[in-house]
Amino acid sequence: MKPFFVFIGIAFFIMACGGSDTPPTGGNSNSGKSMVSKGEKIFKTNCITCHGIDGRLKLNGAKELPLSTLTVDERIAVITNGRKLMTPFKGILTEKQIKAVAEYTMKFSDDK
Ligand code: HEC
Repeated sequence: MKPFFVFIGIAFFIMACGGSDTPPTGGNSNSGKSMVSKGEKIFKTNCITCHGIDGRLKLNGAKELPLSTLTVDERIAVITNGRKLMTPFKGILTEKQIKAVAEYTMKFSDDK
């Protein structure tokens, strides 16, 4: 009788460990996914007034972001220093936030 219970115990232990509801390892707060959602939040707060929710509004002469061919680094420069009617976001957003929102705008051209 005794070995049988030991076996049940081990089986249960293995099942508990293999469960899919265990959180994935290495999921710290700076994973790619959370960067995107952070960028989305920043975009919706700071950018939709001119660019619109999907980046296509073109208010105040804003460029249609899905058609932009700029790289992430060039976008970071535009967002940081501004251009024509676009507000410079240096001092409004941190460097990290600007990077996150620049990466978010790259997504528009992906799902054209
Ligand atoms: C006050 C209106 C305004 C706001 C707010 C604004 N933009 Fe712009 N944005 C513009 C205008 C106008 C241009 C075009 C500048 C030009 O013609 O050189 C532009 C251009 C850009 C470009 C370059 C596109 C290209 O291909 O040249 C990017 C990237 C961009 N904006 C991102 C953002 C992001 C991200 C935010 C929010 C953090 C933002 N913008 C907020 C008006 C705005």
